[in-house]
Amino acid sequence: MTLPSSALRAADQIAYLDHAAASDAGRQYKHKLLAALDPRPGNAVLDVGCGPGTDLPALANAVGDAGTVFGVDHDPAMVEQARQRTAAFPGVEVQAGDAHALPLDDASMDRARADRVLQHLADPARALAELRRVVRPGGLVALAEPDWDTLAIADTDTTLSRAYTRYITTSVVRNATIGRQLARLLDDTGFEIDSVDATVILFRDYRSAETILRMPSVAQRAWQAGALDEQAARAWLARLTNCPFLAAFTFFTAIGRVPATGGLVAPGLPSPLQVAVRAGERVRAGERVRAGERVRAGERVRAGERVRLGAGSAAGAGVGAAAERDARALRHRVVRHRL
Ligand SMILES: C[S@@+](CC[C@H](N)C(=O)[O-])C[C@H]1O[C@@H](n2cnc3c(N)ncnc32)[C@H](O)[C@@H]1O
Repeated sequence: MTLPSSALRAADQIAYLDHAAASDAGRQYKHKLLAALDPRPGNAVLDVGCGPGTDLPALANAVGDAGTVFGVDHDPAMVEQARQRTAAFPGVEVQAGDAHALPLDDASMDRARADRVLQHLADPARALAELRRVVRPGGLVALAEPDWDTLAIADTDTTLSRAYTRYITTSVVRNATIGRQLARLLDDTGFEIDSVDATVILFRDYRSAETILRMPSVAQRAWQAGALDEQAARAWLARLTNCPFLAAFTFFTAIGRVPATGGLVAPGLPSPLQVAVRAGERVRAGERVRAGERVRAGERVRAGERVRLGAGSAAGAGVGAAAERDARALRHRVVRHRL
């Protein structure tokens, strides 16, 4: 729910994100979003626009030793920070990448989340199409975005408060009203909508609001751009610091589900692509493996599903202990391909 500022240095941006995540509102919605995303042990989970890695440890704990968490961010400073913070989690992998062209295979993820990322993107619909591509049928996507058009700052000069909000929506945040568009965007991209939620983020003291909303620097940019009258805006800022403070905006979350049937994950392949894994077949780390929920001798599996090798997979000679040992190495190399 943070307001972006292109002027922020990487360290300031990270401190800013940390502060937002540690706030009561930040902790509450992240907790609820994680529960709604419902990552399971053994899942592969993507956090696109992962920032400094704030949510990666919780995801790693949820998926456990058999799962994998991928953090992707286009900012090298964020990637570096996220890697440092998750160094103790062997199942977490952070890489540089663009939400518009994810560096992941089709249907390779069980879950994905994008937390306050769409508001910044040149093409949010394209990013959602990418999430649709990389999440397997039946998998879930969690989105969380503010709606800056709803920002209401209490003051005697309502006109100035409105002009300030309008400046944010027209000149500060690229997709300022994305929060209210989440359900529509999910539907347009072919997701089923599991849930939509709206929370009011309320600030009752100037200091905590200032950390998130950055009124002085944004107001200054606005009067320099001619969007606010400087004298009136300075008086407005002075009143905000001296009077009982109140500001609020609406924050939206939505959970989308990739339909379990219909719509092939791997374009060009027949759906479902039925394959049989034969007894005695060997699966080695680094080898391209067949798509399937589990590799068991003789078991039929479907294209677009993720291969998960674990306890219970040792049905055939070769597809067993050795494969289990290599399961982690294999997990993110799973590809769809004609058998
Ligand atoms: C407001 S921060 C949120 C970070 C994190 N999701 C969180 O909740 O703390 C937005 C993040 O999206 C990243 N981002 C912006 N555009 C992106 C893109 N095109 N591809 C990948 N990441 C992007 C930024 O670098 C930043 O780390």
